[in-house]
Amino acid sequence: MTMTIEDVIAHIREHRCFSHPIFLNWATIDPTAEVVSALFHQIQKFCAATRPGWNFPEALATYGLAEQGRLFEEIVASEATHGPDLAMMAGFIVNQRAGRSICPDLSDRTAVEHQLRLDSDCIFASLPGYDKETGLATQTRKAISVFDSRKLTDRDTTMRNLGVALALEMISNAHLIPGEKYCLIDSELYGVNIGDPEMKYLLEHYGEIGAEQQHERNAIAAVSGALTKDTSCLISEGVDEFLESLAAMWDVLDAMLSTPNYSEQNIPIFSCSKL
Ligand SMILES: [Fe+2]
Ligand SMILES: [Fe+2]
Repeated sequence: MTMTIEDVIAHIREHRCFSHPIFLNWATIDPTAEVVSALFHQIQKFCAATRPGWNFPEALATYGLAEQGRLFEEIVASEATHGPDLAMMAGFIVNQRAGRSICPDLSDRTAVEHQLRLDSDCIFASLPGYDKETGLATQTRKAISVFDSRKLTDRDTTMRNLGVALALEMISNAHLIPGEKYCLIDSELYGVNIGDPEMKYLLEHYGEIGAEQQHERNAIAAVSGALTKDTSCLISEGVDEFLESLAAMWDVLDAMLSTPNYSEQNIPIFSCSKL
């Protein structure tokens, strides 16, 4: 039996990734600036991997899904400035939490990302499988690798990538971006507003007119038109591959966030950060 788009959407909404508590815990725990910085390194690397379309839009056209390809090209084009915007927001939040200027030039994306990486190496280094080359946890690398499949053009991978893309856009719109808004702004931990120029990333992504709303609409329209008896299984596989890998990444970041060693009173003495 062919799955309907409603079935696929309901499945994504019911997955534990869709309501993962990481952002609620972030707001409750109020992690140190060093931990915030380390978390942003993992998150920004994951987000960066989701932006390029690679061969995916063209591959869709090859299999008679040119309109689907166009819808995803629109998403890719809208991501152009999001890397620098995310770095600016991350550096700003780290500065606010530290109460001093850890990242002095928020428009210097390379410098901000370097600081995030230093703190990740410090905070996450003890994780089994932490990769010193990339500064990434095993689970972050796995979540990123799901998007490497966009370089492949065979039919089965292309159909799976449709599922990956739909789950990504639904999670971004309904969990990741609202979660960031909740822990970074609504929590009042950092004394920042959505109108602050340094928070442009959230302003552009959040809400009814935000980028993610449009992305989700495009992804739902694309997958609706591609679901058939032959593709629904592959699309579902892609959905699950994305949701499982991201949930595992949130689990490990959430566990580290909750580690008492990193509470305000007990910053490790071997800390490698300037904080
Ligand atoms: Fe974005
Ligand atoms: Fe998106």
